[in-house]
Amino acid sequence: MKHSKQVEILKELMSQLDENRNVDAGAQYRLPTSDYICPDLAQREWNAFFREHPQIIGLSGDLPENSSFFTIDDFGAPVLATRGKDGVFRAFLNACRHRGARVAQEPKGKAARFTCPFHSWTFANDGKLLAIPEQDHFGPVDKSCMGLVELPAAEVAGMLFVHPQPAATLDVEALLGEELLEELEGWGFKDYIHVADLDIDKKLNWKLANDTFGETYHFPKLHKNTLGHVFYGNNLAYEEFGRHHRFVTASKLIDALRGLPEDQWTITPATFVLYYLFPNIQAVCVSTGMNMARIYPDPNNPGRSLTRVAGYFSPQALAIYEEQVANGGSEGKLLKIEEFYARAAEPDIIRTPETAVEAFSSTVSAEDYVMGEHQQFAASSGQLEYSLFGRNEAPLHHFHSNYRDALGRPPLEKIG
Ligand code: FES
Ligand SMILES: [Fe+2]
Repeated sequence: MKHSKQVEILKELMSQLDENRNVDAGAQYRLPTSDYICPDLAQREWNAFFREHPQIIGLSGDLPENSSFFTIDDFGAPVLATRGKDGVFRAFLNACRHRGARVAQEPKGKAARFTCPFHSWTFANDGKLLAIPEQDHFGPVDKSCMGLVELPAAEVAGMLFVHPQPAATLDVEALLGEELLEELEGWGFKDYIHVADLDIDKKLNWKLANDTFGETYHFPKLHKNTLGHVFYGNNLAYEEFGRHHRFVTASKLIDALRGLPEDQWTITPATFVLYYLFPNIQAVCVSTGMNMARIYPDPNNPGRSLTRVAGYFSPQALAIYEEQVANGGSEGKLLKIEEFYARAAEPDIIRTPETAVEAFSSTVSAEDYVMGEHQQFAASSGQLEYSLFGRNEAPLHHFHSNYRDALGRPPLEKIG
């Protein structure tokens, strides 16, 4: 992010804190709770946003070397992501061209070729069909057109994009827009290192899971023993980029900047910067790197979703951590979670790779998504007709208006 933009955001947050005000969307809106439970809507969302829409499946660091690969089944197609010996990221249907068994079995690893377990057809990691056993028995096959089905894929700004439909076009610039893409490039995600994973499977609609990331009103209440130690809550610098948005909120470390010249200000750790990337990515940038949550519906149950969290460290943060470990430090690992949060503002607290996704365990899973499960149950009763979004919950207006608009549905109802 440009330094001038960092300063602008930091000043806005300081003034919100000084004036005891929050982001103000100027109106409240209400959402029918049927949006969280309707099976027909869930099917339309699944098709439009997951089966037929580009997906961000990770960062460059998920394919750290040539011949790295990973598999992903979360959006209705078996996908194999590879980095070839030429260093190029490619994506394929993880389905053998013989009769469709998975050619790659493991969630991730290193392999130059994949041998299907069923009849041992073998494919290179650039998709080419290399070998068919007993081909004289099988009969002739033109190997040159029986490689793995390739999916449109692109590696841009250190992020891995795939379109699930082989015939689709993938235009990342059109998807994100030039301004947002340039800002994302500035973070240097391409060098980030994958350090931790967490899966959260809970009984809440995928949109309720996204709603968790849509306001800071709840920070000092719901998160008073976790994230609320570190982040003030009730303040938000918020900007929309088409269907995407940026959400920045102040940590208590912002106060340390007040005595410093502006050219020394940096956006983290004085804040966290969250990018919502339509339809299902919540990417949280922090001082150590980035945590990316990919939120998937259960295509058979609107009342369930799966959040896959991946933690990434910047090379600088990883070097600091390794140096601390080399010097005998292991304190961050030993602290109980409440204590970790209580002391998280201390500059020398050790942030281990485990703590990268810790907030998603202690805070998102154990606190936010528990509220989401309550909300889901209430919605499913059919007896609570609407949810209300306050003027201070602007990102929720945007998120819900977005997917409604994308499906040609009416916007949220403004209620004053
Ligand atoms: S299905 Fe893969 S070799 Fe037969
Ligand atoms: Fe929260």
